Amino acid sequence: MPHQGGDERLRIHRLTAEAAGDFAEDVRRGLGAERKSLPPKYFYDELGSHLFDAICLLPEYYLTRAEAEIFARHAGEIVAAAREGARRVTLFELGSGSASKTRRIIEALLAGQKTLAYVPVDISPAALEASAHALLGDYASLSVEAYAADYDTALPRLGESREEGSRALVLFLGSNVGNFDRAGARDFLRRLRGVLRAGDLVLLGADLKKDTGVLEAAYDDALGVTAAFNLNLLARVNRELGADFRLRDFRHVALYDAREGRVEMHLESLRDQTVRVGALGLDLDFRKGERVHTENSYKYSPGELSALAAETGFERAHTWLDSGERFSSNLFVATETKGERG
Ligand code: AVI
Repeated sequence: MPHQGGDERLRIHRLTAEAAGDFAEDVRRGLGAERKSLPPKYFYDELGSHLFDAICLLPEYYLTRAEAEIFARHAGEIVAAAREGARRVTLFELGSGSASKTRRIIEALLAGQKTLAYVPVDISPAALEASAHALLGDYASLSVEAYAADYDTALPRLGESREEGSRALVLFLGSNVGNFDRAGARDFLRRLRGVLRAGDLVLLGADLKKDTGVLEAAYDDALGVTAAFNLNLLARVNRELGADFRLRDFRHVALYDAREGRVEMHLESLRDQTVRVGALGLDLDFRKGERVHTENSYKYSPGELSALAAETGFERAHTWLDSGERFSSNLFVATETKGERG
Protein backbone atom coordinates (compact mmCIF):
# COMPACT_ATOMS: atom_id res chain seq x y z
CA MET A 1 0.00 0.00 0.00
CA PRO A 2 1.43 3.45 -0.84
CA HIS A 3 2.31 5.48 2.16
CA GLN A 4 -0.34 8.15 2.61
CA GLY A 5 1.03 11.69 3.13
CA GLY A 6 0.27 13.27 6.52
CA ASP A 7 -1.35 16.54 5.40
CA GLU A 8 -4.88 15.43 4.55
CA ARG A 9 -5.02 13.56 7.86
CA LEU A 10 -3.90 16.56 9.94
CA ARG A 11 -5.72 19.67 11.13
CA ILE A 12 -4.17 22.01 13.66
CA HIS A 13 -6.25 24.69 15.36
CA ARG A 14 -3.84 27.38 16.57
CA LEU A 15 -5.52 29.09 19.45
CA THR A 16 -2.39 30.08 21.41
CA ALA A 17 -2.11 33.48 19.69
CA GLU A 18 -5.32 34.51 21.46
CA ALA A 19 -3.46 34.02 24.73
CA ALA A 20 -0.23 35.91 23.79
CA GLY A 21 -1.22 39.09 25.64
CA ASP A 22 -2.01 37.01 28.72
CA PHE A 23 1.69 36.27 29.34
CA ALA A 24 2.49 39.96 29.89
CA GLU A 25 -0.58 40.38 32.08
CA ASP A 26 0.15 37.24 34.14
CA VAL A 27 3.80 38.32 34.62
CA ARG A 28 2.69 41.79 35.74
CA ARG A 29 0.17 40.31 38.18
CA GLY A 30 2.34 37.44 39.45
CA LEU A 31 5.61 39.30 39.95
CA GLY A 32 3.88 42.47 41.15
CA ALA A 33 2.14 40.65 44.02
CA GLU A 34 3.22 40.67 47.65
CA ARG A 35 3.94 36.89 47.41
CA LYS A 36 5.46 36.53 43.95
CA SER A 37 4.39 33.70 41.63
CA LEU A 38 4.25 32.73 37.95
CA PRO A 39 1.75 30.28 36.39
CA PRO A 40 3.36 26.93 35.43
CA LYS A 41 1.69 26.87 32.01
CA TYR A 42 4.42 29.29 30.86
CA PHE A 43 7.15 26.66 31.34
CA TYR A 44 6.27 25.17 27.97
CA ASP A 45 7.72 27.40 25.28
CA GLU A 46 9.84 25.54 22.72
CA LEU A 47 12.92 25.32 24.96
CA GLY A 48 10.84 24.51 28.04
CA SER A 49 9.05 21.67 26.22
CA HIS A 50 12.44 20.16 25.29
CA LEU A 51 13.64 20.54 28.88
CA PHE A 52 10.50 18.78 30.07
CA ASP A 53 11.21 15.91 27.65
CA ALA A 54 14.70 15.70 29.19
CA ILE A 55 13.19 15.63 32.70
CA CYS A 56 11.19 12.58 31.66
CA LEU A 57 14.48 10.75 30.95
CA LEU A 58 16.05 11.53 34.33
CA PRO A 59 16.68 8.65 36.74
CA GLU A 60 15.08 10.63 39.60
CA TYR A 61 11.90 11.52 37.67
CA TYR A 62 10.22 8.12 37.95
CA LEU A 63 6.73 9.32 36.93
CA THR A 64 7.06 8.95 33.15
CA ARG A 65 8.72 5.54 33.31
CA ALA A 66 6.18 4.27 35.83
CA GLU A 67 3.27 5.33 33.62
CA ALA A 68 4.99 3.88 30.53
CA GLU A 69 5.40 0.59 32.41
CA ILE A 70 1.68 0.56 33.24
CA PHE A 71 0.84 1.10 29.57
CA ALA A 72 3.35 -1.54 28.41
CA ARG A 73 1.67 -4.08 30.68
CA HIS A 74 -1.96 -3.01 30.61
CA ALA A 75 -2.73 -1.00 27.43
CA GLY A 76 -4.79 -3.93 26.09
CA GLU A 77 -6.82 -4.12 29.28
CA ILE A 78 -7.28 -0.33 29.47
CA VAL A 79 -8.52 -0.20 25.89
CA ALA A 80 -10.76 -3.28 26.38
CA ALA A 81 -12.42 -1.46 29.29
CA ALA A 82 -12.75 1.68 27.15
CA ARG A 83 -14.38 -0.11 24.25
CA GLU A 84 -16.82 -2.23 26.24
CA GLY A 85 -20.21 -1.64 24.62
CA ALA A 86 -18.88 0.99 22.19
CA ARG A 87 -18.51 0.53 18.46
CA ARG A 88 -15.81 3.15 18.05
CA VAL A 89 -13.64 5.33 20.26
CA THR A 90 -12.36 8.87 19.60
CA LEU A 91 -9.10 9.43 21.46
CA PHE A 92 -8.53 12.84 23.09
CA GLU A 93 -5.41 13.87 24.99
CA LEU A 94 -4.96 16.90 27.23
CA GLY A 95 -1.35 18.11 27.53
CA SER A 96 -0.10 15.63 24.93
CA GLY A 97 3.52 16.92 24.66
CA SER A 98 5.60 14.43 22.70
CA ALA A 99 2.77 11.83 22.97
CA SER A 100 5.30 9.03 23.34
CA LYS A 101 3.24 7.02 25.88
CA THR A 102 0.12 7.51 23.79
CA ARG A 103 1.47 5.15 21.14
CA ARG A 104 0.62 2.08 23.22
CA ILE A 105 -2.98 3.22 23.55
CA ILE A 106 -3.22 4.13 19.86
CA GLU A 107 -1.91 0.70 18.87
CA ALA A 108 -4.31 -1.10 21.20
CA LEU A 109 -7.24 0.94 19.82
CA LEU A 110 -6.22 0.30 16.21
CA ALA A 111 -6.26 -3.42 16.92
CA GLY A 112 -10.04 -3.11 17.34
CA GLN A 113 -11.06 -0.43 14.80
CA LYS A 114 -9.74 0.24 11.29
CA THR A 115 -9.23 4.00 11.70
CA LEU A 116 -8.79 6.27 14.68
CA ALA A 117 -9.36 9.99 15.24
CA TYR A 118 -6.83 11.42 17.70
CA VAL A 119 -7.44 14.88 19.19
CA PRO A 120 -4.43 16.17 21.15
CA VAL A 121 -4.39 19.48 23.04
CA ASP A 122 -1.11 21.14 23.99
CA ILE A 123 0.00 24.66 24.88
CA SER A 124 3.13 24.25 22.70
CA PRO A 125 2.42 24.42 18.93
CA ALA A 126 5.97 23.15 18.21
CA ALA A 127 5.57 20.05 20.39
CA LEU A 128 2.13 19.41 18.93
CA GLU A 129 3.25 19.69 15.34
CA ALA A 130 6.30 17.48 15.86
CA SER A 131 4.31 14.76 17.65
CA ALA A 132 1.44 14.87 15.12
CA HIS A 133 3.83 14.41 12.17
CA ALA A 134 5.66 11.58 13.92
CA LEU A 135 2.41 9.75 14.71
CA LEU A 136 0.96 10.22 11.23
CA GLY A 137 4.19 8.88 9.76
CA ASP A 138 3.92 5.74 11.86
CA TYR A 139 0.16 5.04 11.76
CA ALA A 140 -1.39 5.14 8.29
CA SER A 141 -4.95 4.77 9.64
CA LEU A 142 -4.69 7.62 12.15
CA SER A 143 -6.08 11.12 11.64
CA VAL A 144 -5.13 14.01 13.92
CA GLU A 145 -7.15 17.10 14.80
CA ALA A 146 -4.88 19.05 17.14
CA TYR A 147 -5.53 22.07 19.35
CA ALA A 148 -2.57 24.33 20.15
CA ALA A 149 -4.25 25.92 23.12
CA ASP A 150 -4.49 26.02 26.88
CA TYR A 151 -7.09 23.71 28.41
CA ASP A 152 -9.64 26.45 29.07
CA THR A 153 -9.61 27.57 25.45
CA ALA A 154 -9.68 24.04 24.01
CA LEU A 155 -12.25 22.42 26.29
CA PRO A 156 -15.42 23.97 24.81
CA ARG A 157 -14.20 23.03 21.30
CA LEU A 158 -13.54 19.33 21.89
CA GLY A 159 -17.07 18.14 21.20
CA GLU A 160 -16.68 19.35 17.57
CA SER A 161 -13.88 16.84 17.04
CA ARG A 162 -15.65 13.72 18.30
CA GLU A 163 -16.25 11.16 15.59
CA GLU A 164 -19.98 10.69 15.06
CA GLY A 165 -21.45 8.00 17.32
CA SER A 166 -18.17 7.21 19.07
CA ARG A 167 -17.26 7.06 22.74
CA ALA A 168 -14.68 9.57 24.00
CA LEU A 169 -11.56 8.33 25.77
CA VAL A 170 -9.71 11.34 27.20
CA LEU A 171 -6.09 10.82 28.23
CA PHE A 172 -4.99 13.16 30.98
CA LEU A 173 -1.61 11.62 31.70
CA GLY A 174 1.70 12.16 33.44
CA SER A 175 0.33 13.71 36.64
CA ASN A 176 -0.87 16.79 34.72
CA VAL A 177 -3.82 16.86 37.13
CA GLY A 178 -1.27 17.41 39.92
CA ASN A 179 -0.47 20.89 38.62
CA PHE A 180 -3.97 22.03 39.69
CA ASP A 181 -4.63 22.65 43.37
CA ARG A 182 -7.29 20.35 44.87
CA ALA A 183 -10.19 22.73 44.18
CA GLY A 184 -8.81 23.51 40.71
CA ALA A 185 -8.63 19.79 39.87
CA ARG A 186 -12.27 19.36 40.91
CA ASP A 187 -13.33 22.41 38.92
CA PHE A 188 -11.42 21.26 35.83
CA LEU A 189 -12.78 17.70 35.92
CA ARG A 190 -16.33 19.04 36.37
CA ARG A 191 -15.86 21.23 33.30
CA LEU A 192 -14.41 18.28 31.40
CA ARG A 193 -17.41 16.20 32.48
CA GLY A 194 -19.60 18.99 31.09
CA VAL A 195 -18.35 18.39 27.54
CA LEU A 196 -18.59 14.59 27.82
CA ARG A 197 -21.48 12.14 27.75
CA ALA A 198 -22.40 9.43 30.25
CA GLY A 199 -20.19 6.40 29.59
CA ASP A 200 -17.28 8.46 28.20
CA LEU A 201 -13.95 7.84 29.90
CA VAL A 202 -11.01 9.72 31.29
CA LEU A 203 -7.70 7.93 31.85
CA LEU A 204 -6.17 10.00 34.63
CA GLY A 205 -2.48 9.64 35.49
CA ALA A 206 -1.89 10.59 39.13
CA ASP A 207 1.30 10.43 41.12
CA LEU A 208 0.92 8.78 44.53
CA LYS A 209 1.92 10.16 47.94
CA LYS A 210 5.23 8.73 49.09
CA ASP A 211 8.52 9.31 50.88
CA THR A 212 9.69 12.96 50.94
CA GLY A 213 13.24 12.08 49.77
CA VAL A 214 11.98 10.30 46.63
CA LEU A 215 9.63 13.17 45.78
CA GLU A 216 12.13 15.96 46.34
CA ALA A 217 14.81 14.18 44.26
CA ALA A 218 12.29 13.81 41.41
CA TYR A 219 11.92 17.62 41.33
CA ASP A 220 15.55 18.52 42.09
CA ASP A 221 17.72 16.16 40.04
CA ALA A 222 21.50 15.95 40.29
CA LEU A 223 22.05 17.04 36.67
CA GLY A 224 20.15 20.26 37.22
CA VAL A 225 17.68 19.75 34.37
CA THR A 226 14.67 20.61 36.54
CA ALA A 227 16.54 23.69 37.76
CA ALA A 228 17.04 24.73 34.11
CA PHE A 229 13.35 24.03 33.37
CA ASN A 230 12.35 26.27 36.29
CA LEU A 231 14.87 29.05 35.49
CA ASN A 232 13.72 29.03 31.85
CA LEU A 233 10.62 30.85 33.08
CA LEU A 234 12.79 33.89 33.93
CA ALA A 235 14.70 33.44 30.66
CA ARG A 236 11.36 33.49 28.85
CA VAL A 237 10.41 36.77 30.55
CA ASN A 238 13.79 38.12 29.32
CA ARG A 239 13.20 36.87 25.77
CA GLU A 240 9.58 37.85 25.34
CA LEU A 241 9.16 40.86 27.60
CA GLY A 242 12.64 42.40 27.41
CA ALA A 243 13.49 41.79 31.08
CA ASP A 244 17.04 41.67 32.46
CA PHE A 245 16.86 38.75 34.93
CA ARG A 246 20.38 37.44 35.68
CA LEU A 247 19.67 33.73 35.94
CA ARG A 248 22.75 33.11 38.10
CA ASP A 249 21.26 35.36 40.76
CA PHE A 250 18.39 32.93 41.33
CA ARG A 251 18.34 29.30 42.46
CA HIS A 252 15.86 26.48 41.99
CA VAL A 253 14.10 25.18 45.13
CA ALA A 254 11.86 22.07 45.34
CA LEU A 255 10.20 21.09 48.63
CA TYR A 256 7.56 18.49 49.55
CA ASP A 257 4.83 19.76 51.87
CA ALA A 258 3.43 16.51 53.31
CA ARG A 259 0.49 18.29 54.96
CA GLU A 260 -0.70 19.66 51.61
CA GLY A 261 0.51 16.57 49.72
CA ARG A 262 2.36 18.65 47.15
CA VAL A 263 5.85 19.34 45.82
CA GLU A 264 6.38 23.09 45.51
CA MET A 265 8.86 24.64 43.10
CA HIS A 266 10.25 28.12 43.66
CA LEU A 267 12.94 30.42 42.27
CA GLU A 268 14.85 32.06 45.10
CA SER A 269 16.69 35.36 44.77
CA LEU A 270 20.32 34.98 45.88
CA ARG A 271 20.71 38.69 46.69
CA ASP A 272 18.85 41.97 46.98
CA GLN A 273 18.31 43.08 43.40
CA THR A 274 16.09 45.06 41.03
CA VAL A 275 14.97 43.59 37.70
CA ARG A 276 13.64 45.68 34.83
CA VAL A 277 10.83 44.24 32.67
CA GLY A 278 11.13 46.50 29.63
CA ALA A 279 7.87 45.64 27.86
CA LEU A 280 5.89 46.29 31.04
CA GLY A 281 7.82 49.44 32.09
CA LEU A 282 8.25 47.74 35.46
CA ASP A 283 11.08 47.65 38.02
CA LEU A 284 10.80 44.67 40.36
CA ASP A 285 12.59 44.50 43.69
CA PHE A 286 13.70 41.13 45.06
CA ARG A 287 15.05 40.67 48.58
CA LYS A 288 17.78 38.08 49.20
CA GLY A 289 15.95 34.80 49.99
CA GLU A 290 12.65 36.00 48.46
CA ARG A 291 10.95 33.31 46.38
CA VAL A 292 8.82 33.23 43.25
CA HIS A 293 6.40 30.28 43.50
CA THR A 294 6.32 28.62 40.09
CA GLU A 295 4.58 25.25 40.46
CA ASN A 296 2.71 22.85 42.71
CA SER A 297 2.65 19.13 41.94
CA TYR A 298 -0.07 17.51 44.03
CA LYS A 299 0.20 13.87 44.99
CA TYR A 300 -2.82 11.63 45.58
CA SER A 301 -3.87 8.67 47.70
CA PRO A 302 -6.27 6.07 46.19
CA GLY A 303 -9.02 7.35 48.50
CA GLU A 304 -8.51 10.92 47.28
CA LEU A 305 -8.79 9.69 43.68
CA SER A 306 -12.12 7.98 44.37
CA ALA A 307 -13.40 11.15 46.04
CA LEU A 308 -12.15 13.28 43.14
CA ALA A 309 -14.09 11.08 40.69
CA ALA A 310 -17.27 11.04 42.78
CA GLU A 311 -17.22 14.82 43.28
CA THR A 312 -16.85 15.59 39.59
CA GLY A 313 -19.42 13.36 37.87
CA PHE A 314 -17.29 10.25 37.41
CA GLU A 315 -16.72 6.89 39.01
CA ARG A 316 -13.22 5.47 39.49
CA ALA A 317 -13.86 2.19 37.67
CA HIS A 318 -10.33 0.81 37.65
CA THR A 319 -6.81 1.68 38.78
CA TRP A 320 -3.54 0.23 37.49
CA LEU A 321 -0.25 0.73 39.37
CA ASP A 322 3.37 0.30 38.25
CA SER A 323 5.40 -2.48 39.88
CA GLY A 324 6.97 -0.01 42.34
CA GLU A 325 3.44 1.25 43.27
CA ARG A 326 4.57 4.83 42.80
CA PHE A 327 2.17 5.97 40.10
CA SER A 328 -1.47 5.28 39.20
CA SER A 329 -3.48 5.19 35.97
CA ASN A 330 -7.14 5.63 36.81
CA LEU A 331 -10.09 4.96 34.53
CA PHE A 332 -12.85 7.44 35.40
CA VAL A 333 -16.24 6.67 33.82
CA ALA A 334 -18.64 9.59 33.33
CA THR A 335 -21.75 8.80 35.33
CA GLU A 336 -25.23 9.80 34.19
CA THR A 337 -26.30 13.26 35.30
CA LYS A 338 -29.93 14.29 35.91
CA GLY A 339 -30.03 16.23 32.63
CA GLU A 340 -28.85 13.20 30.64
CA ARG A 341 -31.56 10.84 31.89
CA GLY A 342 -34.46 10.23 29.53
C1 AVI B 1 3.79 18.33 33.71
N1 AVI B 1 3.78 18.02 35.12
C2 AVI B 1 2.92 16.90 35.40
C3 AVI B 1 5.13 17.87 35.72
C4 AVI B 1 5.01 17.52 37.23
O1 AVI B 1 5.55 16.49 37.61
O2 AVI B 1 4.33 18.25 37.94
C5 AVI B 1 5.93 19.13 35.55
C6 AVI B 1 7.27 19.07 36.22
N2 AVI B 1 7.76 19.99 37.00
C7 AVI B 1 8.95 19.64 37.40
N3 AVI B 1 9.23 18.46 36.91
C8 AVI B 1 8.20 18.08 36.13
